[in-house]
Amino acid sequence: MNKEEIKILAIESSCDETAASVVRNGREVLSNVISSQIELHKLYGGVVPEIASRKHIEKINQVIQEALDEAGMTLQDMDAIGVTYGPGLVGALLVGVAEAKAIAYAAKKPLVGVHHIEGHIAANYIEHLDLEPPYLCLVVSGGHTHLVMVEDYDKFKILGRTRDDAAGEAFDKVARAIGLGYPGGPKIDKLAREGNADAIPFPKAKVADSPYDFSFSGLKSAVLNYINKANMQKQEINRADLAASFQKAVVDVLVEHAMLAAKDYHVEKVALAGGVASNSALRRGMKEACEKQGYTLCYPSPIFCTDNAAMIGVAAYYEYCNGTRHGWDLNAVPNLKLGERK
Ligand code: KG4
Ligand code: ZN
Repeated sequence: MNKEEIKILAIESSCDETAASVVRNGREVLSNVISSQIELHKLYGGVVPEIASRKHIEKINQVIQEALDEAGMTLQDMDAIGVTYGPGLVGALLVGVAEAKAIAYAAKKPLVGVHHIEGHIAANYIEHLDLEPPYLCLVVSGGHTHLVMVEDYDKFKILGRTRDDAAGEAFDKVARAIGLGYPGGPKIDKLAREGNADAIPFPKAKVADSPYDFSFSGLKSAVLNYINKANMQKQEINRADLAASFQKAVVDVLVEHAMLAAKDYHVEKVALAGGVASNSALRRGMKEACEKQGYTLCYPSPIFCTDNAAMIGVAAYYEYCNGTRHGWDLNAVPNLKLGERK
C-alpha cells in the first residue's frame, strides 16, 4: 500500500449538515462541501430529526458529486469511503451510512465507519500538520462535552463528560430564552462582546467526586430563573450582560477542568474540538491558561469546528491505515461510544 497517496471520500450526515469531502493522506483537504439545513430548522427553534433525514436524502448525491468535482476526481480515484455511523440522530445517520455502503459496494471500495467525535478531534490535524498524539482534547459540541486523552490516532480515554446538557446545548437554550434564535452559540458569542461578563454571578457547577465531569443544567436553570424574576418584576434585562455572564460561567468551568486534567495527566499539548470550540471567549480563555502553564494549544478554524465531512475523512484515513474495514452490515449507532468498535 502506498501510504503517500490515500484518498478518501468522506460523508457526514449525523445532524443537520449534509456534507462530503475528499481528503488526501489524512491531512490535505481537497474539497469540503457542506449543505446546511439551519435555515429550515430555525423555523422550529432547533433540529427536527424527521426533517433533517428528509433533507439529507434530497441533498446527499449532489453534495457528494460536488465534493468529487471540486477535488477534480472521480469515485474510481478513491481508496476508501469513510462515513459517520454514530453518534447522532438515527434517521439522519442512516442516510449517510446507506449512501456510503451503496457507493462502496458499487465502486468496489473499502468502507470505513467513523465515530463523529473522533472526527471532531481529528479536525485538528488539518491545519496543525505537526500535531500528533498524545494530547488532551476538550470536545465541546451541541451534543457532547468530553475531556478526552487522545493516546493515539484511534485510541481515546474519556476523562470527563457532561452529566446533563452539553455545552452547545446550554448555549442554544439560553439563546432561545433571550430571543436570539437557533443556533444560539454564535449569537451569544457575538452579543457577549458588548456585555459585562462580571455583571451577573451565575453558578459554576462542580460535580461532586468527579473533578473532570461537567454539569450545565444548573447554570441553565439559573439563567432561566434570572429571566423569569426580571420579567415578573417588570425589569428590563440587559441581554448583552446576560450573554457575557453566562458565557463566562461556561468558559471558566471548561478551562478549569481542562487545565486540571492537563496537569494531572502531564500533557504538553491541548486541543479544542466541536462547534463550541469556535467560541471566541473559550479560545481566549484556553489560550491564556495554556500559555501560563506552558502547554501548546491548537484548535481548528471555525469551518472545521462545526459539523463537516473533512474531519471524517481525516479520522477515516487513520482508521484505514490501522486496518479498520466495515462490512455491508454496517448500521447507524445513535449512541455509539468513543473508542468502541462495532
Ligand atoms: O459540533 P457541532 O456542529 O454539532 C454537534 O456535533 O453537536 O456543534 C454545534 C453547536 C451548537 O450548539 C452551536 O450553538 C455551537 O456548536 N456553536 C457555538 C459557537 N459556534 C457554534 N457555541 C458557542 N460559540 C460559538 N461561536
Ligand atoms: Zn458534531
